[in-house]
Amino acid sequence: MPMEIQLEQCRYAIEIENGLLEQIGRRLDDYSGQKIGVVTDATVWSLYGDRMLSQLQGRDITLTVLPPGESTKSFRSMERIFSEWIQGGMTRKDLALAFGGGVIGDLTGFAASTYLRGIDFIQVPTTLLSQLDSSIGGKVAIDLPEGKNLVGAFHHPKAVWMDPTLLETLTDRIFRDGLAEAIKAAAIADSDLFDRIERAGNRQGIQADILNILPASLTVKKTVVEVDEKEHGPRKLLNFGHTLGHAIEAHWNYERWTHGEAVAAGMSVATRASESVGLTEAGTSKRLTDLLEQFGLPTASDVPLGELTGRMLRDKKAAAGQLDLILIQKIGNGFIHKVPFTEIEEFYQKGV
Ligand SMILES: NC(=O)c1ccc[n+]([C@@H]2O[C@H](COP(=O)([O-])OP(=O)(O)OC[C@H]3O[C@@H](n4cnc5c(N)ncnc54)[C@H](O)[C@@H]3O)[C@@H](O)[C@H]2O)c1
Ligand SMILES: [Zn+2]
Repeated sequence: MPMEIQLEQCRYAIEIENGLLEQIGRRLDDYSGQKIGVVTDATVWSLYGDRMLSQLQGRDITLTVLPPGESTKSFRSMERIFSEWIQGGMTRKDLALAFGGGVIGDLTGFAASTYLRGIDFIQVPTTLLSQLDSSIGGKVAIDLPEGKNLVGAFHHPKAVWMDPTLLETLTDRIFRDGLAEAIKAAAIADSDLFDRIERAGNRQGIQADILNILPASLTVKKTVVEVDEKEHGPRKLLNFGHTLGHAIEAHWNYERWTHGEAVAAGMSVATRASESVGLTEAGTSKRLTDLLEQFGLPTASDVPLGELTGRMLRDKKAAAGQLDLILIQKIGNGFIHKVPFTEIEEFYQKGV
């Protein structure tokens, strides 16, 4: 049974199956008669392009292969996609297909949300991060020179099709980058998933248990997205580790730390601090940091705290003189803790 996302205006299936790449042709039959604008990056295409093309045989496709990397999430890429779709004769009834990691998913989704005032799209995510996190939830965006994800929309895919065997070709660094988000999901809402990741122990163990780990992490995101699609309340829990993490990433201009590494450090610092002031059950921060370290993820920041908190307060999420920090009471229980701006640095200081 596929998982389903159910929102007021739409519902869509998330299908997870080893070998699903070889079923895409058949699955696309439900969308027959439409042109397909396939967007991918050069790395994914060099690894899986032949297999995807054989699934698209006989269909009218427009293929856009972009350079890999965050800098592809730009207006320039959007313009290129739009021109190629126009040249390919894509109409409002046609379909975009995002084949790649979070960069391709966010970019293609945003292009689809605005092309001819909006066309349908399907996500075929190929990284661990995009399979367990970014491909669901409907947030799509591009970056500006001034910052990440500053222009975007909510545009849900019609379907999300995942083939976990594609994860085998990820580098170790990109793999553990995605795993940080699974550990985050477990820490805020699913202690059984946390146990499972502990038992898996290493990348091979995770891959061997991926058909349980993926749905469990997705369920955490799905549950909060369904109750809070636009991020007013519970969806904020997904930001555990992210407030400090974003500041670390931005400090190094998104070049030195991956997102997951920065989130790992953010979760560790926040949890050590909250444990030291009695908001978190004793022993929790050790368990969390042990697990992160086991997978080679960092558990401390290399930036002076004052610089990070200064940056945080300028962040778009800072509102009304206080910051919503996400903390965990124990493994599996996240909560929102409001801290006045003036006390943020003092709070985090206890966790560095
Ligand atoms: N929309 C959301 O809710 C949401 C949530 C989290 C992150 N994001 C966004 O996701 C993006 C990061 O996603 P990502 O980590 O997937 O990055 P990515 O798309 O850049 O992929 C990382 C690298 O892995 C390569 N790759 C992809 N699939 C591969 C495969 N199967 N085998 C080998 N290499 C492969 C890519 O070419 C790329 O070099 C960021 O832009 C972030 O803002 C969005
Ligand atoms: Zn994240």
